[in-house]
Amino acid sequence: MRAIAVGAFRADPALVEMPKPEPGTGEVRVRIEYAALNPCDWQTVRGAPGAPATARVFPLVVGVDFAGRVDMIGPGDNRFRVGDQVFGRVAGAASGSGTYCDYVSVPQDSAIALVPPGLPLRAAAALPSAGMAAAQILEGAALRGHESLLVIGAAGGVGSYLTQLASARDIRVIAAVRGAEHERMAALGAAATIDVTDRPLDEAVREACPDGVDALVDLVSTTPDAFAAHAARVRPGGIALTTHGVATGAALPPGVTGVDFRLEPTPVLLDVLAAGAAEGVLRVP
Ligand SMILES: NC(=O)c1ccc[n+]([C@@H]2O[C@H](COP(=O)([O-])OP(=O)(O)OC[C@H]3O[C@@H](n4cnc5c(N)ncnc54)[C@H](OP(=O)(O)O)[C@@H]3O)[C@@H](O)[C@H]2O)c1
Repeated sequence: MRAIAVGAFRADPALVEMPKPEPGTGEVRVRIEYAALNPCDWQTVRGAPGAPATARVFPLVVGVDFAGRVDMIGPGDNRFRVGDQVFGRVAGAASGSGTYCDYVSVPQDSAIALVPPGLPLRAAAALPSAGMAAAQILEGAALRGHESLLVIGAAGGVGSYLTQLASARDIRVIAAVRGAEHERMAALGAAATIDVTDRPLDEAVREACPDGVDALVDLVSTTPDAFAAHAARVRPGGIALTTHGVATGAALPPGVTGVDFRLEPTPVLLDVLAAGAAEGVLRVP
């Protein structure tokens, strides 16, 4: 099969030929039709911290999100059938199998789900990482409604879903973006959009929420100091969440709880997102 892979960390990805993976016990093999791109793909190629290098298998196929059709079932019980349209997220490059390729074998009880009628495979492929992260971030931020949420990096994959899911719960989303994204973010449900290339973020957030925001989701800051600077706009008792693991060690304002988010993919969450997208309630940008 064809695959986009690297032979070592920090190497340039290249198109290579590799053997088709055989589905093991309890696995399904998927003929991939679409793979989505996520920041974790290039972070993995760079040798992201977390997984030991010895756990990686080279050539390492890039990518985690996929949509396609089940083309082979491994031995043992299985909830899928050959021909099923499915989408999902592989456990990560530590398993040695990514999704920028023609076939992937995954455990049937992992983050893989049926694509509901009416949802194109192309859209389904764009849901897993960003959609599941947005849904779990919203739970992590513990917001209910009529509260304010500042999202830094709101125009990207996670932010676009988070803005929709939060505004559907009557949460007031302040979307911090780069560039002229006002119209698009308003259509996704943002109450206010701040172009950080146009005006100072701090001043604009003060104007939108003079008493501070109830929660911050920072999808951008990669240092504790940068994260803490954004968290300064959170009111006492509020929550500041980061996807970059920089909450620990950040000097947060008194009374603000820091949260280091880590995605925990589940098939149930995939079902919920796919149903929302198929019904048109959740837009897939
Ligand atoms: N920890 C976890 O389990 C987990 C799970 C999911 C995602 N993540 C992380 O979360 C982050 C976001 O993921 P994503 O899929 O949404 O990425 P993405 O699609 O690349 O979106 C990032 C967005 O942030 C914008 N941006 C960059 N710097 C900015 C700034 N200073 N102010 C405002 N906006 C800024 C980017 O704008 P431009 O287009 O102008 O660059 C882009 O729109 C990534 O770093 C990803 O690795 C972590």
